[in-house]
Amino acid sequence: MDEKSYEKPSRRVSVPWVMNAPARNERLVMMTAYDFSQARLVEQAGADIVLVGDSLAMVVLGHTDTLSVTVDEMLHHVKAVKRGVENSLLVADMPYGSFHLGRRQTVAEAMRFIKEAGAQAVKIEGRRPETVAALVDVEIPVMAHLGLTPQSIHKLGGFRVQGRGDGPRTELLEAAREIEAAGAFSLVLECVPADLAREVTAVLEIPTIGIGAGPNCDGQVLVFHDLLGLEDRLSPRFVRRYAELGSDARRALSAFAEDVRHGRFPSPAESYDDPEHLRAEPIRKIYG
Ligand code: KIV
Repeated sequence: MDEKSYEKPSRRVSVPWVMNAPARNERLVMMTAYDFSQARLVEQAGADIVLVGDSLAMVVLGHTDTLSVTVDEMLHHVKAVKRGVENSLLVADMPYGSFHLGRRQTVAEAMRFIKEAGAQAVKIEGRRPETVAALVDVEIPVMAHLGLTPQSIHKLGGFRVQGRGDGPRTELLEAAREIEAAGAFSLVLECVPADLAREVTAVLEIPTIGIGAGPNCDGQVLVFHDLLGLEDRLSPRFVRRYAELGSDARRALSAFAEDVRHGRFPSPAESYDDPEHLRAEPIRKIYG
């Protein structure tokens, strides 16, 4: 895309605007971001929703799953992302352990994302209609997340497709209905068969946002590092890499290292008070 043609949302995206997207027949674009410059990039690229996902644990902090990231670590990054977002809706993912110990804990932790970090909504994983209702009751909009919920990795036995077979399919449909009835404003569907995602999308009024859930959701989300080719440890089939920034970055960083080793960086033009005459001197004389 040409640099000038980027389309950051020209209006401030709100929760009602997201909820009405299916009625407007408009597809939602969500991308993750974890810091200020990533937030600016995804907003400038036209993201309606910027999600600070707990995928932070894996793609930024280097863990092998999402379980260990804490509320404080998430808050640190949500605050940075907030500084880079003007018009997109900012959603903070509630990490594992922050909404599992009852209503009081859930509300208190979720409020930190709103009050301290400036998020406009939170996302929670799993079939938890009471939790959704408790948050909506204190004015916190909730994006729900069903299907492959990485916080349940031990229970699920790994990162694998969910909702296959009659029982799991019916269970997921029921969970989606319950969550909508509890007041969620949108639903992420991760790694489920495309026809199940289509059915969920058809029966719900709130928008579905798919990741590995086929083309018939109301919107799509990808993780920043996956779509830019910065993450190479896992490559699920649902990821489309729109760039290979990992290899570009390695090339650039090696070129810098080579230039330094061979005395090609910095050049006189990149130095103050032209030190060209010093270049003929042995290096130890310059430093010594
Ligand atoms: O943590 C995350 O990035 C997510 C998205 C993949 C939906 O939950």
